[in-house]
Amino acid sequence: MALTRSEAASKVMVALDKPDARAALQLAERLQGSGCWAKVGMELFYAAGPDIVRELKARGFNVFLDVKMHDIPNTVRGGARSIARLGVDMFNVHAAGGSAMMSAAVQGVRDAIEAGDAPNRPLIIAVTQLTSTSQATLNDEIGIPGPVEDAVVRYARLAKSAGLDGVVASPLEVAAIKSACGADFATVTPGIRPRGADAGDQSRMTTPLDAVRGGTDYLVIGRPITGAPDPVQAFQTIVEEMSS
Ligand code: C5P
Repeated sequence: MALTRSEAASKVMVALDKPDARAALQLAERLQGSGCWAKVGMELFYAAGPDIVRELKARGFNVFLDVKMHDIPNTVRGGARSIARLGVDMFNVHAAGGSAMMSAAVQGVRDAIEAGDAPNRPLIIAVTQLTSTSQATLNDEIGIPGPVEDAVVRYARLAKSAGLDGVVASPLEVAAIKSACGADFATVTPGIRPRGADAGDQSRMTTPLDAVRGGTDYLVIGRPITGAPDPVQAFQTIVEEMSS
């Protein structure tokens, strides 16, 4: 069944990959009220700090803090505790850190909730393989043998057993993840390119409509919106396509 426009909009996470708070908020204010999420990644968070999350929450956005933690479990637990206090709606860690590290992220959130410091319980998501990682990079550089999809599904199972809520993966891998981990296990997919758009550094990609048809829960979209001459128009065109 086709998505309504508001259902489609609520699946889009706009990557505010901007160098400072001013540029990010300028873009966010144009998208305010459209129903999309705001994704805060390393470029923006390292420049603007926790205040950017508060500013976006104050403007009504659901916020995905995409800082991809990957460290020893004790450090990740503390990091997750601090992130939970910020009131983000989703954040992520690298599955490559292993199950003890992922469980520590869950524990960190629990710590903040039990201490009464967290306004809500964020979704905790594991990065499987970056969508810029090609088959050759995985096998020849990272040193993981076999098809990308197998490596992604193995990490997804590990994330699920560590108590996480879902994974970041390519839209091309969603069906395999859902069949291994269940329909309720969330999939967050970058690597979205409308037909004819520039791939940039992404390798494992598909169009917004194919991502929706493939069962993706959340579509992370950066440059096709943020780099467009009219970002709001680009967002609306994508939502239109998703709900067609
Ligand atoms: O501009 P583009 O649409 O390629 O942006 C994709 C966004 O998703 C970027 O902010 C990038 O950091 C993020 N991301 C990704 N691949 C992952 C996880 C996050 O591209 N596996």
